[in-house]
Amino acid sequence: MSWKRILAIETSCDETAAAVVEDGRRVLSNVIASQIDVHTLYGGVVPEIASRQHVEAINWVVDRALEEADTGLSELDAVAVTSGPGLVGALLVGVNTAKALAYAAGLPLIPVHHIEGHICANYIAHDALEPPFLCLVASGGHSHIIHVAGYCEYRLLGQTLDDAAGEAFDKAARVLGLPYPGGPALDSLAEKGNPAAIPLPRAKTEGRYDFSFSGVKTSLVNQVQKMRRGTGEVSAEDIAASFRMAVVQPLVEKTVLAAMETQANTVALAGGVASNRLLRDMLRDAALVKGIRCVIPPLWLCTDNAAMIASAAYHRRSLEKQAALTLNADPNMQLF
Ligand code: KG4
Ligand code: ZN
Repeated sequence: MSWKRILAIETSCDETAAAVVEDGRRVLSNVIASQIDVHTLYGGVVPEIASRQHVEAINWVVDRALEEADTGLSELDAVAVTSGPGLVGALLVGVNTAKALAYAAGLPLIPVHHIEGHICANYIAHDALEPPFLCLVASGGHSHIIHVAGYCEYRLLGQTLDDAAGEAFDKAARVLGLPYPGGPALDSLAEKGNPAAIPLPRAKTEGRYDFSFSGVKTSLVNQVQKMRRGTGEVSAEDIAASFRMAVVQPLVEKTVLAAMETQANTVALAGGVASNRLLRDMLRDAALVKGIRCVIPPLWLCTDNAAMIASAAYHRRSLEKQAALTLNADPNMQLF
């Protein structure tokens, strides 16, 4: 069976997205309706509001994705959808829309794990990329070092023991009084500060490829309190820069260590935090020094989008992962 042209839908969090992708790598359309404006009013994603926003946006987002790809339902080979993990109400909007479309058009329905989508964004960005490679996935809910042994073959080497990198950035941004979404705001502020201004702790973990960001978060709270009391010497810019370094440095060092110890000759980056300027620069430089190829997706493929979901579905085609129309959203879906 050839699943050449795939329509994919992604609604796991706060972006309503649809895309049409050919052969898992050629993006014919990629439409995203962002909910940033509405969640900014509340300082973070409100799940119930996210679901309602998805309901309002999903039909026109899908219509526009088909229109921009100049494709009718009858020209598609499959419909793919993020079925987990994520916010259950948000996921359900995408899952139900995908089921309706698949049923109406008589197409196979392919459920995709959101993190597998992030990893597969790299296939779109780098035409020649093929497994095996090592991938650092850093998003709002995940910080994983994954050995990608083959298409759809994953082995977890390390992960965060507490907060995900994106979650740590978002919480730190809130403490600093920055607007939602916190990660990009903190990244911009950090550009103007000195990363060596404050000695923030680096966690020691038992697993050599694991991470922990709770300690550094507590130190950041103390530093911000000092700054507000006027007893510290440092600025918000310096605190942001030092915090960014304290999160990025272990991500980079442990990824490169894992690549060397598993003899991987390529490392890839994935997830929303892959937009972070320091992470992109430091991983590229550290890999270069060790003679490891480093592939990093462009910014539009790092944050949530449906093109990456279509790519993951395409690469699942030989696994017969077709779902029944009883498919449900799985907020805690596992990849390993
Ligand atoms: O992958 P993603 O769009 O959604 C999830 O699957 O979670 O990642 C969103 C996360 C948020 O925590 C956001 O603050 C973070 O990625 N993020 C960043 C940057 N851009 C997005 N974190 C640090 N620096 C950035 N430039
Ligand atoms: Zn994501």
